[in-house]
Amino acid sequence: MTVDQATGGPSLPQQRKLVTEIPGPRSRELFERRSRSVARGLSHVLPIFAAAAGGGVLVDVDGNSLIDFGSGIAVTSVGNSADLVVSRVTEQVAQFTHTCFMVAPYEGYVEVCEQLNRLTPGDHEKRSALFNSGAEAVENAVKIARHATGRDAIVVFDHAYHGRTNLTMAMTAKNMPYKEGFGPFAGEVYRMPMAYPFRWPGGPERCREEALGMVKSLIHAQVGEENVAAVVIEPVQGEGGFIVPPDGFLAGLADYCKANGIVFIADEIQSGFCRTGDWFACDHDGVVPDLVTTAKALADGLPLAGVTGRAELMDAVHPGGLGGTYGGNPVACAAALGAIETMEKEDLVSAARRIGGVMLPRLAQLAAKYPVIGDVRGRGAMIAVELVKPGTTEPDAAATAAVAKACHQAGMLVLTCGTFGNVLRFLPPLVIGQPLLTEGLSILEDAFAAL
Ligand SMILES: Cc1ncc(COP(=O)(O)O)c(C=O)c1O
Repeated sequence: MTVDQATGGPSLPQQRKLVTEIPGPRSRELFERRSRSVARGLSHVLPIFAAAAGGGVLVDVDGNSLIDFGSGIAVTSVGNSADLVVSRVTEQVAQFTHTCFMVAPYEGYVEVCEQLNRLTPGDHEKRSALFNSGAEAVENAVKIARHATGRDAIVVFDHAYHGRTNLTMAMTAKNMPYKEGFGPFAGEVYRMPMAYPFRWPGGPERCREEALGMVKSLIHAQVGEENVAAVVIEPVQGEGGFIVPPDGFLAGLADYCKANGIVFIADEIQSGFCRTGDWFACDHDGVVPDLVTTAKALADGLPLAGVTGRAELMDAVHPGGLGGTYGGNPVACAAALGAIETMEKEDLVSAARRIGGVMLPRLAQLAAKYPVIGDVRGRGAMIAVELVKPGTTEPDAAATAAVAKACHQAGMLVLTCGTFGNVLRFLPPLVIGQPLLTEGLSILEDAFAAL
């Protein structure tokens, strides 16, 4: 098979194959063109240019086939170009590409909202609205919460990532590269300590109680409960380092919100849609948020995002108060319906749990062998290792970059994250086969051995 013949989707040979160095000559040539035409502000994890992708592999323009442990940042959970996504999108694109839901509505949009209402936590009456990106969904969730409560303040957390628009930059914690030089930022955003067990000063056992206590007392002292429209939290933090709060922290926060008339918004953009071994990460804690934001895996890479929540909150906004030209585009809706059908048919909740069941013990073995691994954490197929100077909690971003680079050179795509740049995160497509998964773990082991 030549690169030109490679067709993406599940029929792509599920193998790692390197035929050139990484990146190869054709990718380097394209990178030259990219440098002359595309803004410098867009960076790349690995400058290989994609030719096809499917299942657990990504084929580049030089014909290299790489194991994919990134899923385009938690997006292609059903695999790139999954059959049901391709067939529904193809059908829809031949019918009509756009009418604008605010001009002439269509059934696909309604169907996606019905699915979101059905699948997100809680069996109360819900409504949904669709947008183009995760950041746009977060912006709209805040709009809805402010409108419904008549309050201004928004509470967010250390290590949070909510996007790159003006409001979501204000909500995002990390300065470089997301905020540096882009201010002034939107106001009325207040940051609280995150329950981060590995780095909690009092130790992981005291993390839940102490973090909850601090959040409550800081809100009381600095903001005033009665001024808070919403608390926004990623139930498992993504870009900030795959931080899993202790059991009970989210539930405690949700109870506190309820008692104080605060809208509890779960940003499930990275953690949602089977990734953590539940449909949504909140399900693990039995937490029912008032509003949930979704995007990423929702439509297998076509731009689509949603806000779903209590009918009385969602319907508080006047007609015309929400929307946008492209939000809930019919082709993206078709992709979402194909992706959701695939998740259900292939039981990707169980697949994510199986992936976690294979990865976590192997990573724990690695941690026992290589003291540079300070913490192994995650849920389902949203898993990470945090790298530190051995025997300390001092972040080791250089070792993290070196391990990632070694994996890339060996033909495996891995991503890094974390406020301190010292976390390797693993997000394989949930349809990845066992042989590729274990091969990927061996590549990782070799990369640690070579440090
Ligand atoms: C938790 C979370 N919220 C919001 C966003 C922003 O989504 P988008 O990049 O689609 O704007 C992301 C993206 O990584 C995310 O992980």
